[in-house]
Amino acid sequence: MDIEAALEEIGSAPNLERLQSLKVQYLGKNGRVTQAMKTLGQLPPEERKEKGRVLNEWKRALEEALAVREAQLKEQALQARLEQEALDVSLPGYAFPSGGLHITSLILLELVNIFRRMGFSVVEGPEVESEFFNFDALNMPEWHPARDMQDTFWVDFDRAAEEAFTIQGPFGEEVNGLGGAVLRTHTSGMQIRYMIQHTPPFRIVVPGRVFRYEQTDASHEAMFHQLEGLVVGPSITMADLKGAISELARGLFGKEGKARFQPTFFPFVEPGVQFAMWWPERQKWLELGGAGMVHPYLFKAVDDYRERQGLPRAYQGMTGWAFGMGVERLALLRYGIPDIRYFYQNRLSFLRQFRG
Ligand code: DAH
Repeated sequence: MDIEAALEEIGSAPNLERLQSLKVQYLGKNGRVTQAMKTLGQLPPEERKEKGRVLNEWKRALEEALAVREAQLKEQALQARLEQEALDVSLPGYAFPSGGLHITSLILLELVNIFRRMGFSVVEGPEVESEFFNFDALNMPEWHPARDMQDTFWVDFDRAAEEAFTIQGPFGEEVNGLGGAVLRTHTSGMQIRYMIQHTPPFRIVVPGRVFRYEQTDASHEAMFHQLEGLVVGPSITMADLKGAISELARGLFGKEGKARFQPTFFPFVEPGVQFAMWWPERQKWLELGGAGMVHPYLFKAVDDYRERQGLPRAYQGMTGWAFGMGVERLALLRYGIPDIRYFYQNRLSFLRQFRG
């Protein structure tokens, strides 16, 4: 046996498996050295002593070489694993994409919160509305020219009725008999619904989607949002309206914000105004909406409806004010957005600029 070659082979064993088989090959039960030791007994005593000494030395040398190589290979494996599992804590982390509120939601929340601070409740209503709540009860009868102020999406009511579609009134009652169905052109119909269901005094704001049958262009969309307000009580005045709109101006534009009223006509208020707010930063007035004192026609229409429902009349002797404003319009003016259509094209490069 060539001990030098054996030690050499062990010293360069490429892996632990190979090392293990070398160990078996030399020192195992049937290994070369073990076998040689078993034959010692057949030798004459002189030779036996010398050969025994040599074999023991080989055995010791082999064991040592095996142990050294084993330690080397284990160390190598450990180093490889450490390298592979290394964690570079100086690498920048992953930025997880996070969502955000849409610009319309942000503006609506801002508006609604200003009114919440003034004690208003927030209510919502249906987007498919009966002609009665959207127009008639708001003092806009069919023949009234004001009806043409708002171009309307009509719902094919006959077909809708066939498909068992109904519009429900404030108490869940069917109101299909009260004219056609429309996509609400404004949130003002909720004034009627709310008054039918509640007795004054109260303060509400109504955020919501509205629809107009319109050619779209940079300043017109077929769908947009409004915020409606309604306050009714035994002695509500125009001064209260001016105070609330002024407070809204301060909420939006800081303590130098203020409101301006100019007379105008809306069938559901008398007197009616359009209001503007002073934007101190830009030193300009922003025309933001309409308002006025609730027209007595509405109180009568509401009380008549209540009576038909078996409820007591509740609006005699009451006064109130209402307002309505465009949500996108405020955002357009405030941020200098050139085109209202950007709002609902879902282009992230636009929307991300306004994340809350
Ligand atoms: N409904 C009106 C529109 O869509 C806005 C409006 C004007 C609402 C005057 C009101 C109001 O409550 O008093 O143009």
